[in-house]
Amino acid sequence: MPAITATAPGKIILFGEHAVVYGRPAIAAPVFQVSARAVVMANPGAPAGHIQVQAPEIGLDTAFTDLPAGHPLATVIMGVLLSSGLTRVPACTIRVSSTIPMAAGLGSGAAISVALARAFSTFCGKSLSDADINDLAYEVEKIHHGTPSGIDNTVITYAMPIYFVRSQPIERFSVARPFTIVIGDTGCPASTAETVSYVRAAWQVERTHYEGIFDRVGFLTNLARDAIEHGELEKVGDLMEQNHALLYEIGVSSPELEELVEAARAAGAWGAKLSGGGGGGNMIALVDADLAPRVAAALMEAGAVRTLITTITPSNPA
Ligand code: PMV
Repeated sequence: MPAITATAPGKIILFGEHAVVYGRPAIAAPVFQVSARAVVMANPGAPAGHIQVQAPEIGLDTAFTDLPAGHPLATVIMGVLLSSGLTRVPACTIRVSSTIPMAAGLGSGAAISVALARAFSTFCGKSLSDADINDLAYEVEKIHHGTPSGIDNTVITYAMPIYFVRSQPIERFSVARPFTIVIGDTGCPASTAETVSYVRAAWQVERTHYEGIFDRVGFLTNLARDAIEHGELEKVGDLMEQNHALLYEIGVSSPELEELVEAARAAGAWGAKLSGGGGGGNMIALVDADLAPRVAAALMEAGAVRTLITTITPSNPA
């Protein structure tokens, strides 16, 4: 049996993080320059049903049955077995790897889940639909942080720009003019679980104030969708600035993120903001394509440990 391979891209959130947890819309896009990969190989030498799980980057090489309950990889494998109705699969080795930086707001966990669910279900002869893959990846997101909106698993499963509202079917939208984003990594690990619960605690104390902020974020997100659909990129940049100011206000920025956002602006970006949970991790800057290398260099000078340049197109990989 030939090895089965599946990949899944990273992602950025263009608008609406945190507010999306509270039912407001958000916009996200895949990042194809980085990806997670899962390879499933038959292992005829092993006893029937044996599943060996390898993740060399984190030094994992163990039998599936020895993974602790609730382990993200075990959850995906079990989910595939349950939904395929198989009680026993041919002995195999599953190897997962990723070029998506971890704990950086680029969706590394969700991408591993999606790649693994795709490759393993295909190996089992019961390829799951995108909807099933998305549901499974969402279950794993809940292990990472209790109240995920589901935006990460959704944009990564469908691998196209999406307008997302929690618990609603995804909406595609048109990208009138492809646009260039420079991603800058602060190198500071970011815990989405921590920033999400930080925001929740503050929301519980000042509910009206926070609901007002989330309303404003939702309003900006809708304006941004309209601007993207009309190719008004400078306006999109301005809206990113406004979204960042609100994220700053709810306390999820950091000195390093501020430094990079400021450096991107100074180098001529149309707008910049943190992307994802915040507290560290990545920021994004919307730029004229010709200016991208200059903005990337400015970010490195301002302390970024890594930059990526990506193009957001209607549905094709950059
Ligand atoms: O996984 P991250 O760091 O990209 O954050 C996801 C976005 C949040 O809105 C902060 C959380 C969520 O579940 O939507």
